[in-house]
Amino acid sequence: MPGVVYLNGEYLPRERATLSVDDRGFIFGDGIYEVTRVVNGQLFEADRHMRRLQYGLRGIGIDPRLTPEQIIDIHNRLIRENDLTTGEGTVYLQITRGAAPRTHYFPSASTSPTVFLSTSTFTPNHAQRETGATAVTYPDIRWSRCDLKTVNLLGAVLAKQHAVAAGSLEAVFIRDGVITEGSHTNVFGVIDGELRTYPRSNYILGGITRDVVLELAAEQGVAVREMPILQQEIGRLDELFITGTTSDVTPIVQLDGRPIGDGKPGRITRILASALERKLYGTAPAKNPALAAAR
Ligand code: PDD
Repeated sequence: MPGVVYLNGEYLPRERATLSVDDRGFIFGDGIYEVTRVVNGQLFEADRHMRRLQYGLRGIGIDPRLTPEQIIDIHNRLIRENDLTTGEGTVYLQITRGAAPRTHYFPSASTSPTVFLSTSTFTPNHAQRETGATAVTYPDIRWSRCDLKTVNLLGAVLAKQHAVAAGSLEAVFIRDGVITEGSHTNVFGVIDGELRTYPRSNYILGGITRDVVLELAAEQGVAVREMPILQQEIGRLDELFITGTTSDVTPIVQLDGRPIGDGKPGRITRILASALERKLYGTAPAKNPALAAAR
């Protein structure tokens, strides 16, 4: 992964960016991250990402010593330095509590946080978004502050690995008999014509794509209920899809080996996928006639 990254005030080649072995991100997973989409050099929903970042940092008591405007400026400079002004990419940001002798309690207030940003090019899997993907369920073994986007991602890592080993795209977490979210996505389903998703709470990440899709659903006149999908309702799902910064709206056509609805991306899913595509790419027309028909 070549390119210029930002580390603690410096822009430098990735291979020259080094961290202390005492960094609390490394030792404890003590930090917050963000992943923001870039389309033709523009950050998608940057303000919402900054609000969520501030919420997370405040939630774990890290002062980044940078304003949201300064953090956006760093994003934009990296986009330019790494030639991401055309095409698509992502910016990864991570802020940890910094390097300090290992104690579980917070280090002294004079400890500087570690601030790291890097970019990647990104190619959306358009084919998968047309045909849909498969998913498997997995117990939600994560802690109970999933609303904080911490770098402590072991539950997500184990779940996603389980999905990959099963030949699936995503793991859908089940907690107390209901679907919460995916390993790195939010999950929506359609039952009896109504769009359902787990309500905002400490048990899910408030996804930026989730928020945008909820707004698009309202605009498109789709009935929405922020209410969990029960595990026992899975057999009644007509549609299922995941949302996320690198997933957009991806239909899930099979869960645990059983087809969802007729085993093809559903009507409401396609309406929302195409509405999100328009928002991401401006007024670009849907490439698939089926999408146009679904509108
Ligand atoms: N993941 N839920 C979880 C647990 C996530 O990790 C993510 C994002 C989402 C979707 O949020 P958003 O729409 O803001 O991307 C939901 C990022 C992309 C990641 O870990 O790479």
